[in-house]
Amino acid sequence: MLEKSSAVKRGVFSATVCSNKQIRERFYRLVLEFSGAGAEAFAKIGAGQFAQLDLSDTALPPVETIPDDLADVAERKILLRRPFSFADVTTKGNKTSVDILYCVVGPATLRMTTLSARESVSVLGPLGNGFWVPDGKKTALLVSGGMGTGPLQHLAKILTADFPDINVIAFAGARSAEALPFERQLDEISQQLGFSLPEFAKYGVESLVATDDGSAGFAGPVTDCISEWLGSSKSAGKSMVIYSCGPEAMLARVAEIAREKNIDCQVSMERRMACGISLCQSCAVECKTAGSNDTFYKLCCEDGPVFDSAEVVF
Ligand SMILES: Cc1cc2nc3c(=O)[nH]c(=O)nc-3n(C[C@H](O)[C@H](O)[C@H](O)COP(=O)(O)OP(=O)(O)OC[C@H]3O[C@@H](n4cnc5c(N)ncnc54)[C@H](O)[C@@H]3O)c2cc1C
Ligand code: FES
Repeated sequence: MLEKSSAVKRGVFSATVCSNKQIRERFYRLVLEFSGAGAEAFAKIGAGQFAQLDLSDTALPPVETIPDDLADVAERKILLRRPFSFADVTTKGNKTSVDILYCVVGPATLRMTTLSARESVSVLGPLGNGFWVPDGKKTALLVSGGMGTGPLQHLAKILTADFPDINVIAFAGARSAEALPFERQLDEISQQLGFSLPEFAKYGVESLVATDDGSAGFAGPVTDCISEWLGSSKSAGKSMVIYSCGPEAMLARVAEIAREKNIDCQVSMERRMACGISLCQSCAVECKTAGSNDTFYKLCCEDGPVFDSAEVVF
């Protein structure tokens, strides 16, 4: 069994920007490189763990390029670090590079778009736990909504490298084809790879796409897509595990499907995080114990962000 990752070697490290590529209108892939103690700390980071980036001194983009819906918030001071998980981690020699897939939603992520090669970023991490692999699993289903695909791409890499007996299948959902945070246009992908997303195909992982408006792949929510797939699957629930990351409403539905089908399921939760290191209590997740109505709180930054879906009160 792959144990839960822990943040034993966490610290504040300086990372250097290698690239910051725009992949869709609001989506970017930032690659940061660590050397020295930072490289060591991030080399073995588990899929689903995260870090807090300090973007307080990062410049704003030119006014004319700021999306209208962010014009009012763009100038806000960035007092707190922002949490991000990783889509990939690579070690070469004594350097470790991490890929962050991010979406521009507010003042900090807007500033992030101006980070350019050789700039430094202060990174607090690695933080939180990560996904784990329970014993006896033969099939892993990776279910993402929107930006939730990032940590699941990292997980696909780890599962295919370290658990060759597990068949991995990715399900990626978004509102529309344009809102899918993947590098290539889906038309091209569908022609070349039969809807396999290159980000998963490079690990030999089959992928299915779902869009709410039917503009690409399965027409409907990704949760309907996985329900349909499970309905036709011959694999037994107990030999499967579902890993999910995305909007909370989607995670709640994934947890429900897993319960109905008797499948182990892990969900990566998101909370606003002020500190990331269990000091401020801003990131509480309501949890329950099986067979009891009593609820209690765990901290998303320290006890999560990955939780067994059966313990989360959605
Ligand atoms: C463990 C963890 C991992 C994350 N990984 C990624 C990632 O890999 N890529 C990525 O793009 N984003 C990720 N996020 C979300 C990211 O931290 C926020 O999008 C970012 O902090 C927004 O900062 P901002 O100043 O641009 O926008 P803000 O003004 O802070 O927020 C803009 C909008 O997004 C909502 N929002 C912001 N943060 C959160 C949150 N944590 N949970 C729910 N809603 C939120 C706000 O309510 C607001 O409506 C992650 C969050 C967590 C907790
Ligand atoms: S973010 Fe401060 S306790 Fe979790």
